[in-house]
Amino acid sequence: MDAAQIAGLNCLRLMNETTAVALAYGIYKQDLPAPEEKARNVVFVDLGHSGYQTSVCAFNKGKLKVLATACDQLLGGKDFDGVLVNHFCEEFGKKYKLDVKSKPRALVRLYQECEKLKKLMSANSSDLPLNIECFMNDIDVSAHLNRGQFEEMCVDILTRVEPPLQSLLEQAKLKKEDVYAVEIVGGASRIPAVKERISKFFGKELSTTLNADEAVARGCALQVHYAKLLQLVSTCFCICLSGECITR
Ligand SMILES: Nc1ncnc2c1ncn2[C@@H]1O[C@H](COP(=O)(O)OP(=O)(O)OP(=O)(O)O)[C@@H](O)[C@H]1O
Ligand SMILES: [Mg+2]
Repeated sequence: MDAAQIAGLNCLRLMNETTAVALAYGIYKQDLPAPEEKARNVVFVDLGHSGYQTSVCAFNKGKLKVLATACDQLLGGKDFDGVLVNHFCEEFGKKYKLDVKSKPRALVRLYQECEKLKKLMSANSSDLPLNIECFMNDIDVSAHLNRGQFEEMCVDILTRVEPPLQSLLEQAKLKKEDVYAVEIVGGASRIPAVKERISKFFGKELSTTLNADEAVARGCALQVHYAKLLQLVSTCFCICLSGECITR
């Protein structure tokens, strides 16, 4: 709240990202089961730049219950950038005799280029170039990498995708078959190897109902919008967090 105030923003309420994503889904989906029917269990997976959050929620029309949440607060797109940066630091060290890590400016440029390359590799599996002009000591550098090589370098990071998913099912006492859909959001969930791991874990195709970049913001905006509407029409809407119900 203090940070928002310092930035000159009028913060109405702090909202948990996981809840915001689930809310955006619940409000958007028109075909949820009726309140008396069996709830629909949906898993949300959000892999951002610096954090990995997952949740499983049970939905009925007008009702959302967060059954469990699990995260790896240190896993995100930045780790994939880091692997690329280390790889090219080593390559440029050998090829051009450059100590990239000794020059912060060059290192920042390399991080920027590696993030771009990472994104390109999500859409393209062929060999891709990385060229930086006047990188250090007036030297232009160039290299190539493809998705297959990138995935091999990221094996250790990729093994961190499954544990939170396993924890979710254990906490919620659900089997994989009890999961109706797996919704992915967050920019780094676009990495094909990440998608593959999540899909393989649940044994189902992933869903992208929500906009990967806007789901959290939309959930928050909808919460404010509906809260205002609900005040007007005094309709009953129920949000349950960890089993506790907040009814408006
Ligand atoms: N097409 C893509 N392929 C691979 N990674 C991508 C792609 N598009 C975005 N990313 C990565 O997604 C990350 C940003 O995702 P997002 O905007 O969800 O993060 P964030 O919400 O700001 O971070 P966090 O949730 O961790 O606080 C960055 O690491 C970015 O490089
Ligand atoms: Mg995020």
